Amino acid sequence: MLTRRSVLMTGAAALVLPKVALAAPLVLRAEPVVAQILPEGDGTTAMLGFNGTTPGPELRLKQGAELAVRFENRMGDVSAIHWHGIRIENAMDGVPGMTQPPVGDGEDFDYRFTVPDAGTYWYHSHHRSWEQVARGLYGPLIVEEPNPPAVDHDITVIVDDWRLEESGTMMEGFGNMHDFAHAGRMGNFARAIPSVAEVRRGDRVRLRLINVATARIFPVQLSGVAGKVVALDGMPLRATRDIGDLVLAPAQRVDIIADVQDDVRFDFPTRDEPYEMGRIAVAGENPAPLGGAISALPAASVAAPGTPTQNLTLRMQGGAMGAGHGGDDIWAFNDVSGMKDAPFATFKRGETARITMINDTAWPHGIHLHGHHFFEVADGQPGDLRDTSFVQRGETREILCTFDNPGKWMLHCHMLGHQASGMMTWVEVA
Ligand code: C2O
Ligand code: CU
Repeated sequence: MLTRRSVLMTGAAALVLPKVALAAPLVLRAEPVVAQILPEGDGTTAMLGFNGTTPGPELRLKQGAELAVRFENRMGDVSAIHWHGIRIENAMDGVPGMTQPPVGDGEDFDYRFTVPDAGTYWYHSHHRSWEQVARGLYGPLIVEEPNPPAVDHDITVIVDDWRLEESGTMMEGFGNMHDFAHAGRMGNFARAIPSVAEVRRGDRVRLRLINVATARIFPVQLSGVAGKVVALDGMPLRATRDIGDLVLAPAQRVDIIADVQDDVRFDFPTRDEPYEMGRIAVAGENPAPLGGAISALPAASVAAPGTPTQNLTLRMQGGAMGAGHGGDDIWAFNDVSGMKDAPFATFKRGETARITMINDTAWPHGIHLHGHHFFEVADGQPGDLRDTSFVQRGETREILCTFDNPGKWMLHCHMLGHQASGMMTWVEVA
């Protein structure tokens, strides 16, 4: 859990996310940065970032547009950038050793792809990600609808935690096997970082929450607004939903459209006082609030699932307090740890599969499939579209996925220490 010290360190000066206007070709330069993660006046933290900041700059473009990014690796280690959730061309997926060669320190790599779906996405390192993402190598990627819903502010909120010394220095020990065998590398200081510091009472806002933490599942208590959840993992809900208790597993996103009533607070519920992770202050009054009903976003273009031609089981195994398994590392899927020559499954292009994911471990996991969105089955029906599915310990979740994107795609736990210690595999769409 978050420490008392971090509870005392709230009330911090608001960090505001940097933004860039897209000028093609855009450069994302991975490099060492110094960040003020702790409150202003406390120590700074040596991290990694893009173009001088962590989180990296927000990339924002229209649905269907092309993103051209020159990745300049100047961070002192090999890397590659993965565009999380984007139904992308395989060669641009950013998995070093599988979809592209690793980009060496001092080298460049050009990414160029179109973004087929409007929604809230993000980019992050996909090499030693349990360490590089924890050190700060990530940023938001926002794809706007052709006619976005009317709001006064479109606000990205990065949710993360960090494991810091009192001085602000980031604690080392990234590959700690004890962390990996349990819930992962948990931070002791957490924040929700909004891209806007102030709003007016009566403003309509769109909040795009992104959990970029490498291990922590964030429950978020949102207050100061009245509105609806409109999208999960970038994908519009068919019908809007009450906000209620938000829970974001690592890599998951939630979009909310809401009207501001008071300071907008992002709290982490605890047994005592809620832990304030972030706040957007209210200043003044909107003289002409937009008001009116909050309607669903335009439907996603992901096709309804066909009749499944394969029924597969993905059993999560291993970890502390778990039963043994046949894999050769801490975690396994179906008795296999890590990337092997043979994929978990091979699909003909366009084939629909039902995958029953069984969490046979003592820990929760967030299972991410690259290059596709899939339906979580609810009451026997295709329900929410997601790219990362949160599966509690002991829980079984069925998904339906139409594998219509050719290539080699990773399937892994997005608790990145779990991924690193065996909970990853891949599928091939021929
Ligand atoms: Cu967000 Cu394979 O990663
Ligand atoms: Cu996991």
